[in-house]
Amino acid sequence: MTKGKLWGGRFGEATDALVASFTASVDFDRRLYHYDILGSIAHVRMLAHVGVLTPAERDQIVQGLERIEAEIDAGRFDWKSELEDVHTNIEARLIEHVGEVGKKLHTARSRNDQVATDLRLYLRDGIDALRDALKHLQTAIVARAESEADTIMPGFTHLQIAQPVTFGHHLLAWFEMLARDGERLRDVRRRVNVLPLGSAALAGTSYPIDRAYTAKLLGFDDVARNSLDAVSDRDFAIEFVGACAVLMMHLSRMSEELVLWSSPLFGFVELADAYCTGSSIMPQKKNPDVPELVRGKSARVQGHLVALLTLMKAQPLAYNRDNQEDKLPVFDTLDTTLICLRVYAGLVETLSVRRERLAQAAGEGYATATDLADYLVRKGVPFRDAHEIVGRAVRVGLASGRDLAQLALGELQACDKRIAADVYDVLAPSGSVKARRHVGGTAPDEVRAAAAQARRRLAQDG
Ligand code: ARG
Repeated sequence: MTKGKLWGGRFGEATDALVASFTASVDFDRRLYHYDILGSIAHVRMLAHVGVLTPAERDQIVQGLERIEAEIDAGRFDWKSELEDVHTNIEARLIEHVGEVGKKLHTARSRNDQVATDLRLYLRDGIDALRDALKHLQTAIVARAESEADTIMPGFTHLQIAQPVTFGHHLLAWFEMLARDGERLRDVRRRVNVLPLGSAALAGTSYPIDRAYTAKLLGFDDVARNSLDAVSDRDFAIEFVGACAVLMMHLSRMSEELVLWSSPLFGFVELADAYCTGSSIMPQKKNPDVPELVRGKSARVQGHLVALLTLMKAQPLAYNRDNQEDKLPVFDTLDTTLICLRVYAGLVETLSVRRERLAQAAGEGYATATDLADYLVRKGVPFRDAHEIVGRAVRVGLASGRDLAQLALGELQACDKRIAADVYDVLAPSGSVKARRHVGGTAPDEVRAAAAQARRRLAQDG
């Protein structure tokens, strides 16, 4: 009654049609086929290594699996949803190809340790692809930071003009955010790269398996130490999505800045035409769709993180079918994060920076007020008093619509007589940024040094 199924023996009645389609996952988990076959081949080699299969049986099964991989690669594989998932589809096809011996593939294994292995192999490659794309974007950012090391712009707190900074410095802040994401991904990869196979359904297996051998074949650094945990654990998937959610949050923040900066009201940067779209009604519009979409897509990845946490939170040990629901959030997280990183590298590379407009904006909003206070401190004024004096100078400026550097020496001296002609050096944004020369500071020479250090970090990161 359960024709074609690999678990039909116990059942007297066919699966209800709606239930069959409800429980099937092959429409989405077929994406794992390469890793499923990789894992099966390693498993079969291990079984032959310990004498559970003969070398001839091993070779027949391996050849059958390779043939199936070629069929799937070529789009010639007939996926059957009545066979539930990627694992049973491949196993059933193997039996069609190689006959009776194919039925031995599933010895000492369960779909529970199989799917956990597949997902780990898939994520290991996914993490490597993400880290490559991330490095590419970081390289683009460093290159722009180097060319904009001397470009002065207003720095913001509360989105109000705060103090002048260099554009290169701002870009290197982005670099640091992404560098932490790279570290997180590298760290997650260590916990991804552990072998569940051998755990079988939950309790391990009575065959004389050699898990270290399988691990070595698949490039895993270790074997999972508890069979119950190994089939039920999805921490690695949660951590992966978590690392991507933080990364996407960073891209979203960068996007918010690009959206603001490219608005004509700021006019700090112009996005390349190739990265924008127009409006169907307003002919003058050039819209920053790419950063807006990245900002929007970060919401999806955050949602996936919450979905996975919620998926796991009430599951008793060991495997439960709930876990089938882990795949779509994981797949979409990888796809989304990867494309956002790739599109972002081009966005940064093609950005035009409006240096004059940035310099002009840095001269507005009393951005060098702190520098004037520091100047007074150097003349022996306690900082609190200096703060008060500068506040008065700002009021003079506000009353006449002028910035501090535009006030006459006499007007400044009326606020405090210790102010001398050399004050104009610190009131210029260029003097302000140059003075911040320490590790992590915004001075052009520091930005150049930080960019060089960033390049070394990128080169070293293995
Ligand atoms: N399709 C299942 C999943 O993704 C495979 C494991 C099924 N195991 C089971 N005992 N029903 O989780």
